[in-house]
Amino acid sequence: MAVERTLSIIKPDAVAKNVIGQILSRFENAGLSVVAAKMVQLSQADAEGFYAEHKERPFFKDLVGFMTSGPVVVQVLEGENAVLKNRELMGATNPKEADAGTIRADFAESIDANAVHGSDSTTSAAREVAYFFAETELCPRTR
Ligand code: PPS
Repeated sequence: MAVERTLSIIKPDAVAKNVIGQILSRFENAGLSVVAAKMVQLSQADAEGFYAEHKERPFFKDLVGFMTSGPVVVQVLEGENAVLKNRELMGATNPKEADAGTIRADFAESIDANAVHGSDSTTSAAREVAYFFAETELCPRTR
């Protein structure tokens, strides 16, 4: 299996609930390593740029408003099959549809405040990692 990187964001609702550590533990317990991390208050321009592919969708304004409503924790996860593994750990976008034991089932309240973001492909991951981190800020563990 390929070693991949994926971009993960702990969203404002989960930061406000004080579950940053519990979420990071889920990644680590599943064999993923944090190779870069920072807490940041996104500006409107930051959030609009990150979610640009969704700008025509009806929820875009709400999504940007939510992602700028408080600090987020952004990290790069590295490990075998990291993109899919992270998506499985997160659970479905709508927490009401998320499998028991997933991050969204356990920590999220609604589709618009759903605790975590994770890249949906290796192509998205490369773009999203570069959006938040310079190559020199990444500290690989598995090479
Ligand atoms: S996904 O995760 O890309 O497959 O899901 P998608 O349905 O395409 O949603 C893209 C992002 O928009 C968020 N979203 C919403 N925000 C606010 N309100 C509503 N109704 C809503 N529906 C979807 C969803 O959480 C995705 O954000 P990220 O950060 O990528 O998880």
